[in-house]
Amino acid sequence: MSQRPYVIDELISAKAIAARIEALSKEIQAEFADTDKLVVVGLLRGSFVFIADLVRELPLPVEVDFLEASSYGNGMESSREVRILKDLRGAIEGRDVLVVEDIVDTGFTLSHVLHLLHSRNPARLKTIALLDKPTRREVDVKADWTGFEIPDEFVVGYGIDFAQRNRNLDHIGKVRFTDTDAQS
Ligand code: IMP
Ligand code: MG
Repeated sequence: MSQRPYVIDELISAKAIAARIEALSKEIQAEFADTDKLVVVGLLRGSFVFIADLVRELPLPVEVDFLEASSYGNGMESSREVRILKDLRGAIEGRDVLVVEDIVDTGFTLSHVLHLLHSRNPARLKTIALLDKPTRREVDVKADWTGFEIPDEFVVGYGIDFAQRNRNLDHIGKVRFTDTDAQS
């Protein structure tokens, strides 16, 4: 598949992301201040930068684990069918769990993952998403904490990809195609 030409316009600066994570980490710290059983679960691959910055703002005893679910493939549309490609290494029964997601879009991924993890009987199950596109929602699910609500734009950077590229941008940008004005 040849890639249509595009540019990336900045939507959220690295500085704004850092400030938001600092504020959110205080709320998370308050929620989990009473536990030494916290497992922070990053959903691969999009959350890897976010979880790295988030856990370093949490002065709590945390374990870090990862789960990989697929829904997007290489395209720009959710497949609506969620598969677990890589499961957690550790058991979460009786543990306090914070799921870290990059974006909640249709909601299929987060909803599927939460059902799965809930069935393993954690003591507490909370979620944080860096980004939320509420106008795209098809499944009724919402993260307990959200970094930024964004409009229906395809975004990249800060861990988030378009066809596996642009994860290494330090900010969030939106993809704008340059080959035609008629399509976006
Ligand atoms: P959902 O299942 O439709 O909520 O999709 C969630 C997943 O799709 C996210 O974790 C992302 O990996 C991916 N995704 C959703 N929107 C975007 C986007 O704008 N850019 C890149 N990936 C996205
Ligand atoms: Mg994802």
